[in-house]
Amino acid sequence: MIATALQPLRAVFALPNDDPRKTVAVALALCLACSVVVSATAVTLRPLQERNAALALKREVVKVAGLAGPGMDPARAFEQIETRLVDLDTGTFVDDADPRTYSYRDAAQDPARSTALGDTDIAGIRSRPDRMPVYLVREEGELRSIILPVYGAGLWSTMHGLLAVAPDGRTARGLTFYEQRETAGLGSEVASERWLSQWPGKTLIGPDGEPVIRVAKGNVEAGSPNADRRVDGLSGATLTGNGVTRLLRFWLGEQGYGPFLAKHTDVPSRRRGGDHG
Ligand SMILES: Cc1cc2nc3c(=O)[nH]c(=O)nc-3n(C[C@H](O)[C@H](O)[C@H](O)COP(=O)(O)O)c2cc1C
Repeated sequence: MIATALQPLRAVFALPNDDPRKTVAVALALCLACSVVVSATAVTLRPLQERNAALALKREVVKVAGLAGPGMDPARAFEQIETRLVDLDTGTFVDDADPRTYSYRDAAQDPARSTALGDTDIAGIRSRPDRMPVYLVREEGELRSIILPVYGAGLWSTMHGLLAVAPDGRTARGLTFYEQRETAGLGSEVASERWLSQWPGKTLIGPDGEPVIRVAKGNVEAGSPNADRRVDGLSGATLTGNGVTRLLRFWLGEQGYGPFLAKHTDVPSRRRGGDHG
């Protein structure tokens, strides 16, 4: 049976080397062999990649929490941080899934666990997971910061980051972007220490509960009106900067963490008017 099946193959390989049919057959066989090797490698390495991605995320959470330091083991530092799942519609904590293994990326792809966004999709993410993990950082029992995963469209890529907010819910403690594919030297500056160092202390949400933070075009003059809620633009990368403004305003707004912040921080729940300038 197998011998019969292999007969056409044998016939092709018996052809002279300069026969075009043999050239095509050898090329096809080579492609097939390579694709099997590549697929097998991808499947075998997947668990390792997932473990590395999980560790990288923990490292970023620890960094934006301000717990990173020389000799600090990120996995151990992460143990001090409480991870919870939040129902974004109600703003309440939920315990029906393991927050440590929950993937908001998988949830966003699943219509049963996400909400399609129409005109409200200012972050360019199409659908919003119904639950998001949040990280609670305590110092001697006192809440020090709340870390909110955020993501949205830049110019070329979806940028994934973490926004640390103070317990008042309105003041930034820090921002980091740990995954983005904007142009090196232009948009990718969103992930640079220099640019990110401006974020601690910035006002994210106004007194009426409306997100007010904005990446400016150009530099922000110290002491200028609204300087507390403006961050220097990225030179030659205004579009990536606009993406950061939009994704933060989305995630701090009603469809994002707004209800959660209203429930657990000083952010008021009623949202009227606000800074659209
Ligand atoms: C090859 C190339 C890559 C670019 N990459 C980015 C980018 O990653 N982010 C971005 O906002 N603009 C990028 N730009 C520039 C945008 O097209 C646009 O000109 C810029 O965002 C405007 O910002 P500016 O007003 O600060 O110059 C790139 C342009 C070129 C030609």
